This record gives sequence, structure tokens and C-alpha cells, in this order.
Amino acid sequence: MGYSKQCLFLVLLVACVSGEDPYRFYTWNVTYGDIYPLGVKQQGILINGQFPGPQIENGVQQRRNSWQDGVYGTNCPISPGQNFTYILQVKDQIGSYFYFPSTAFHKAAGGYGGFKIASRSVIPVPFDPPSGDFTILAGDWYKRNHTDLRAILDSGSDLPFPDGLIINGHGSNAYTFSVDQGKTYRFRISNVGLTTSINFRIQGHKMKLVEVEGTHSLQNTYDSLDIHLGQTYSVLVTADQPPNDYYIVVTTRFTSQVLNASSILHYSNSAGSVSGPFPASGPRPNPQGSYHYGMINTTRTIRLQNTAPIINGKQRFAVNSVSFIPADTPLKLADYFKIQGVFSLGSISDNPTGGGGYLQTSVMAADFRGFLEVVFENPEDTLQSWHIDGHSFFVVGMDGGQWSAASRLNYNLRDTISRSTVYPKSWTALYMPLDNVGMWNVRSENWARQYLGQQFYLRVYSAANSWRDEYPIPSNALQCGKAVGHHN
Ligand SMILES: *[C@@H]1O[C@H](CO)[C@@H](O)[C@H](O)[C@H]1NC(C)=O
Ligand SMILES: *[C@@H]1O[C@H](CO)[C@@H](O)[C@H](O)[C@H]1NC(C)=O
Ligand SMILES: *[C@@H]1O[C@H](CO)[C@@H](O)[C@H](O)[C@H]1NC(C)=O
Ligand SMILES: *[C@@H]1O[C@H](CO)[C@@H](O)[C@H](O)[C@H]1NC(C)=O
Ligand SMILES: *[C@@H]1O[C@H](CO)[C@@H](O)[C@H](O)[C@H]1NC(C)=O
Repeated sequence: MGYSKQCLFLVLLVACVSGEDPYRFYTWNVTYGDIYPLGVKQQGILINGQFPGPQIENGVQQRRNSWQDGVYGTNCPISPGQNFTYILQVKDQIGSYFYFPSTAFHKAAGGYGGFKIASRSVIPVPFDPPSGDFTILAGDWYKRNHTDLRAILDSGSDLPFPDGLIINGHGSNAYTFSVDQGKTYRFRISNVGLTTSINFRIQGHKMKLVEVEGTHSLQNTYDSLDIHLGQTYSVLVTADQPPNDYYIVVTTRFTSQVLNASSILHYSNSAGSVSGPFPASGPRPNPQGSYHYGMINTTRTIRLQNTAPIINGKQRFAVNSVSFIPADTPLKLADYFKIQGVFSLGSISDNPTGGGGYLQTSVMAADFRGFLEVVFENPEDTLQSWHIDGHSFFVVGMDGGQWSAASRLNYNLRDTISRSTVYPKSWTALYMPLDNVGMWNVRSENWARQYLGQQFYLRVYSAANSWRDEYPIPSNALQCGKAVGHHN
């Protein structure tokens, strides 16, 4: 969502495609306000005075709609004093997500919150209803505010190491989750941070994984879970230990200095407060769902290589040598109103170019109903976490070294796993059905990399131009840049 300066007003209308719970309205007053996540006063982004913002709960499965995606390329930012109504309709998305401000590095100031979408009641949920449902929004945090952090990036440097980790807006032991002994609870855990992977664990308790980013998963049991940037998992936790208080711990992963934050799991009949060392992080699977995907003939292969070029003397990040820069007009509006000179299709190659990095408003064209093979190739020494808006995809293979056509021989086409993470010096291949018309952001979930150009847009196009394939432009669409004065 494109938040802007001081105070703005947002009405969220969540509309449904089935007869259950026809509408939910959320009215948000977005303001700056004082927050103290690491014990020092900072100016944060509040929603109705809260940080993290209120939880969105939505009754049913819906269809994702590019007009309401709320990223730079799809919507105009909402200016101070303005109001805007998002109408969210999401396809095939059950489960746990989080919302956050996507422009101007506002994510570093907060403005995020949990977002739960329940399945329609006719769709079975593969576990008993839990006795409680908790949201954990954990991630790294900086004492410097988002304008200072953005200035560091704008000056051509990467971000420094974060100052701490926070859980639901607090540092250590400020947050308590109360449970009754013997009962089972669902925890929805998101990594809402800017730059680091985290490990999550609960002292003395096992976690049964039940959902990965909107998909019910194989229900394996874990002592700890790695959660990469932007990812959300649901686990079931049974309060089956002696009645006490226990640490809920997050620590940073793949960092030389380890940051931590903790909360308390409090038994209602607790005989004692937390004690002992933090539980060790143990083996650290980053498991995902399991699917039977079958043999599908892909229609196109796209290889995407991340790099960290210096362009005009500044640190940038790029995909296939192109470091994304925003245009003056949201791409979705330019596309709809056929405004020339904002972007051109094909401004990013389907394959790594091997050439030096350059700046461009990169948009790749793709056909609705196509079936992509996407290979993320990571020649760098850092873990890469990617996100593709509007689509689900299935990881069919990953390995060290360089991907080649022969790598396909080892693809897993039966029990593919869904994830959006690419490891250092390696590749990850995925299959992705293009089942959603629109202008979709493909981006690094590392927010410094995203801000400095490791992103592009995928324009999924249907010549039919039918409302069956895509919702029409909302009557309240804001207009900015070259789109000002066009009639919806
Ligand atoms: C939003 O909150 C601010 C600060 O609390 C308040 O001054 C303003 O009147 C509120 N706006 C609306 C539309 O509720
Ligand atoms: C939203 O803005 C419109 C004008 O742009 C105004 O008529 C309306 O009252 C505003 N709604 C709220 C809830 O502030
Ligand atoms: C961020 O902090 C700097 C001082 O380091 C201050 O000048 C600036 O106004 C702050 N920005 C916001 C949005 O709070
Ligand atoms: C957690 O981090 C704090 C602050 O850096 C540190 O003092 C403490 O030793 C850490 N706790 C554990 C158990 O690692
Ligand atoms: C994929 O292509 C092969 C070879 O052309 C064909 O035999 C097979 O039926 C196709 N599979 C599907 C699911 O279309």
C-alpha cells in the first residue's frame, strides 16, 4: 500500500465472491506517532493509533486483483488528508499473510499488520479448530528512521546491520501469549523484517507445521523453523508441558552477529516465570507444502539472475542487469490508459545478459494461461528471498552451482514444494501458472535490495480484455503522473 506523509485515511472494503460474510469494512486512519520498539523513542507509522496495525480478518477465499495490489506499479500513493478505499478480492488465497506499506521505504517505520483469510466452510481444513489463534509479526528493526535509512540507500550504500529484532512491535519479553494447559493453539508467524532471515522456536514445545503461505502443508513436527523475509507459516502448538512460562524466541539467521527477541508463552495455571537459557535453534528446516503437481508442459523459460552492480558510482541491485527505477506514473494506469513513454514491454531480458548493470523501468510481457518455468540464479554470497505478487508457484528443483537444461532431469514434478527463497551461490527452479491477468511485481524480499532496483513487473496479458479474466479499473482509482485527467 502506498502510504505517504502525515495523516491519511484509508477505508478497506473486503468484498467476497461467495454468499458467506458478504463484506467486511475496515477504516484506517494512518498517522505518524511515537513508538518504542527497542526502548528508544521513534516516529513510526500507526494505523488507528496502533503499531503493529489492526489484524484484517476475512471470511472467505477471494481472487487477487492487480488494481488493488497496492504497490508502486499499480496504485498512486495516497497523499496526506486523502482517503482511498481498497476493495480486496483475492483468488485461492487462504491462510496467513501480512500487509505493509510498499513505497518510500515506509516499511521501516511500521505500518504493517496481520491478514488472515479463512477458507470457505465447504473446503475442509485438515486439522481441528484450535483453541486460540495468535499472530506473531517478527523481524529486524533499526533505531534510525525510514527517512534516514532511505538516505543511506539513496546515497549508494547498502543498509547497516539492524539494531535488534522485535516481536509484535516490542523487544524482549514485553509480549505474553496466554494458553490453557492441554489445549492446542495456532501461531501464524511472519518475518516482517527488512534484511534478515529469522529462526523461530518455543522453549520445550514442538510445532506442527500446518500452513505455508496460504497452502495447507504436510504436517511435520519441528523444534525450530527458519522464516525468510516475507514468509508466513502457521504452526499448531499444544500446551503439553508442566504449567510454567516459556520463552518464545526469534534469532537472526545467516548473520555473524546474532540478534534476538523473545516473548512469553504463559500457561494460565503457571507455577513459575521464564527461566533457563533460550532453547537452541537446532536443525533449521525451512519446510514448505507438498503438492502433487504432475507433468505439465511449460510454455516458456525465464532465468532471473540477481546481481549487485555499481551504477553511476552507487550501489544498486539488478535482475538480468536491469536495476528497476520507478516511472512518473503507475505502470498499471499507464497500461490501462495506453499512455506512451512510461514503460516498454521487453525492457528486461528473459535470460541473464552478462552485461553491466543499468537503470530502467523494467516490465516483462507474459501471456495469460501460459505456464512458466522460472529459474532464479544466485551468483552472490547472500541468501535471496523472492516474491511474485498475484501468483502461487511450485519449486521443482534447487541445487548449487549453475543451472543448465540438464538440471531439469532432476526436477521433482510430483511432490513439489512451494517457497520463494533462493540460497547463496545456487539456483532454484519453479513452475508458475499464469492464471491472473494484471501488472505484477516480482521482487527481492530484502527491502534494501528491492528499493535499490532488484525488482521488475510482469505484465500478464489477455487479449480477450474480459471482466472474467480481470476486474475493471475501480471507479475510485487515484490518478497521478501522466494519468491525471484520464477518464476511468
Ligand atoms: C486521525 O487521527 C489523528 C490523530 O489522532 C486525528 O487528528 C484525526 O482527526 C484522525 N482523522 C480521522 C479522519 O479520524
Ligand atoms: C473521502 O474523501 C472524499 C472526497 O475526496 C470525501 O467526500 C469523503 O467524505 C472522505 N471520506 C472520509 C471517510 O473521510
Ligand atoms: C528521521 O530522523 C532524522 C534525524 O536523524 C530527522 O531529521 C527526521 O526528521 C526524521 N524523519 C522522520 C520521518 O521522523
Ligand atoms: C539477546 O540479546 C541481548 C541484547 O543483545 C543480549 O544481551 C542477550 O545476551 C541475548 N540473549 C541470548 C539468550 O542470547
Ligand atoms: C506434454 O507434451 C508431450 C509431448 O509433446 C505430450 O505427449 C503430453 O501429452 C503433454 N502433456 C500435457 C499435460 O499437455
